[in-house]
Amino acid sequence: METLTQQQIDALLETAKVYRLRAYAPYSGFKVGAAVLTASGRLYGGCNVENASHPAGRCAEQTAVQKAVSEGETELLAVAALADGTGVCLPCGVCRQVLGEFNPDMWVVMANLSGAVEVVRLSELMPRPFRMRQDANRPGEG
Ligand code: THU
Repeated sequence: METLTQQQIDALLETAKVYRLRAYAPYSGFKVGAAVLTASGRLYGGCNVENASHPAGRCAEQTAVQKAVSEGETELLAVAALADGTGVCLPCGVCRQVLGEFNPDMWVVMANLSGAVEVVRLSELMPRPFRMRQDANRPGEG
């Protein structure tokens, strides 16, 4: 997709804000909200879901991706991540890999509660994601 409209950015951030309030983050206290925009125009929200066994916790972006894909939507156009940090919320390395599986060039909207917003391509954050084969068939490719 060439560009994200301001309306799409606003909708992604509104959804991420709502889902941030559902974060289960009793260990870190760091609540993250995310939203994924799919080719059908639908939005899927997600939050981080932590666990007493820390590696079993899940990031907000991954929750949103799992919701979209499990509803049969694999064409992801954009993702938003929002937290109450000093800067914008940067997706972690694992999230970048998970997002890149579906669209290595998707838009990433990163924000915080104070109104800071940055929009970049995933390829800027994750230039060469791991793939099993270079010709791997992914949604939106070949
Ligand atoms: N977290 C996310 O949900 N997304 C990110 O991209 C970075 C980190 C969560 C994981 C954990 O629950 C909390 O933030 C602190 O690391």
